[in-house]
Amino acid sequence: MISVSCSSHSVLSSSASKPKSICPSAQMASAMQLNVKPVRLAFHSRLASKHSHKPTRIRCAAAAAAATPSRRYSITLLPGDGIGPEVISVAKNVLKLAGSLEGIEFSFQEMPMGGCAFDLAGVPLPEETLSAAKQSDAVLLGAIGGYKWDNNEKHLKPETGLLQLRQGLNVFANLRPATVLPQLVDASTLKKEVAEGVDIMVVRELTGGIYFGKPRGFGTNESGEEIGFNTEVYATHEVDRIARVAFETARKRHGKLCSVDKANVLEASMFWRKRVTAIAAEYPDIELSHMYVDNAAMQLVRNPKQFDTIVTNNIFGDILSDEASMITGSIGMLPSASLGASGPGVFEPIHGSAPDIAGQDKANPLATVLSAAMLLKYGLGEEKAAKRIENAVQDTLNKGFRTGDIYSAGTKLVGCNEMGEEVLKSVDSSVLTAV
Ligand SMILES: NC(=O)c1ccc[n+]([C@@H]2O[C@H](COP(=O)([O-])OP(=O)(O)OC[C@H]3O[C@@H](n4cnc5c(N)ncnc54)[C@H](O)[C@@H]3O)[C@@H](O)[C@H]2O)c1
Repeated sequence: MISVSCSSHSVLSSSASKPKSICPSAQMASAMQLNVKPVRLAFHSRLASKHSHKPTRIRCAAAAAAATPSRRYSITLLPGDGIGPEVISVAKNVLKLAGSLEGIEFSFQEMPMGGCAFDLAGVPLPEETLSAAKQSDAVLLGAIGGYKWDNNEKHLKPETGLLQLRQGLNVFANLRPATVLPQLVDASTLKKEVAEGVDIMVVRELTGGIYFGKPRGFGTNESGEEIGFNTEVYATHEVDRIARVAFETARKRHGKLCSVDKANVLEASMFWRKRVTAIAAEYPDIELSHMYVDNAAMQLVRNPKQFDTIVTNNIFGDILSDEASMITGSIGMLPSASLGASGPGVFEPIHGSAPDIAGQDKANPLATVLSAAMLLKYGLGEEKAAKRIENAVQDTLNKGFRTGDIYSAGTKLVGCNEMGEEVLKSVDSSVLTAV
């Protein structure tokens, strides 16, 4: 057992390896969630909590009335840097309460990652952290990075830890919803009539393409001039698996999938289009279209309502999902999920560590709370508990509570903690007492 402390939160890690077991109900439920064959999804569940740290107990009327937990999941929490610990603390309590009301019990293990892990262990992703993540049912991440580590060598930057985590867990599909909530339509920089009702899911390939392709590096060309180069490359299995996740996702939404590429110029994109079209034969109920990335960037601000589900490669997805998220106008509201074919997914807000507001109780925790809802829905197949959280967020906004980033005249300005308390009240609408 090692016990370390990271910024303002304490980190406990058990080095004892724990036996893994497959939880068939979670496996099946998750498979149904994505409509993929159960054998492709193996979610690990520990039947007994072996955690050495004392869990925070939350008691409320309905929770007390909830049935004895019938499902147990282990969650690795990676609070990270900046506002990460603040928003994770809120999301953990919400997850715990929503779960308890649905007969779910969680065991949580907090581990260091990012800049704080570099300070503690000299690397942004310590082996113990990756190992704990691999053994858990799902990973909930806050945010990493900050000015302090900006000049670290590349392999020691907090962001490198994030790439290593995604690679280590082989999470190749990144799901990023961009939904304009009716309560926040005025936060969009687009005209109300353009932004109203936007509900897009961007499915981004996460572990291939130009960010990882080889050869890459620096060198000199034939004229002796210095050059930098990268390689955009995709293999059949990489395109096929992300295409299937996208088709399954579209099937659960409005049945429309737009594949974005640059097939008029890039061979890798021509190949991408060919494979996506081939996989479409397995999904005759889904309406598939193709769009060049430059047009997609334009259409997203011209008429975003035309999109339902978008699938694209790593680099285009990086850019387009940020663009789509800005239609909603509030970076503090947007969750994401990164999924693999088996093992735990990584669930995190899309925002960074916001060093400018860290430690000031100003962070909007709702993106992380909604990431916890995605964890339940896409990671564990616990749709009911996920819905509880989504409804609670809507309810809290309907009551007029706003953090600074989404504040407008006539609403009630609250901090990160108070927003969290209000969401907890809405999850159960009973008075909550932490003991
Ligand atoms: N996945 C990640 O952990 C991740 C993602 C992006 C950036 N980063 C890192 O975060 C650090 C800061 O990056 P940045 O400033 O470009 O992006 P950022 O997302 O941290 O902040 C951008 C702006 O949005 C605000 N903001 C972000 N999240 C908010 C929230 N929940 N509530 C209220 N306001 C919020 C910030 O105050 C800031 O003004 C950098 O080190 C960057 O590398 C990490």
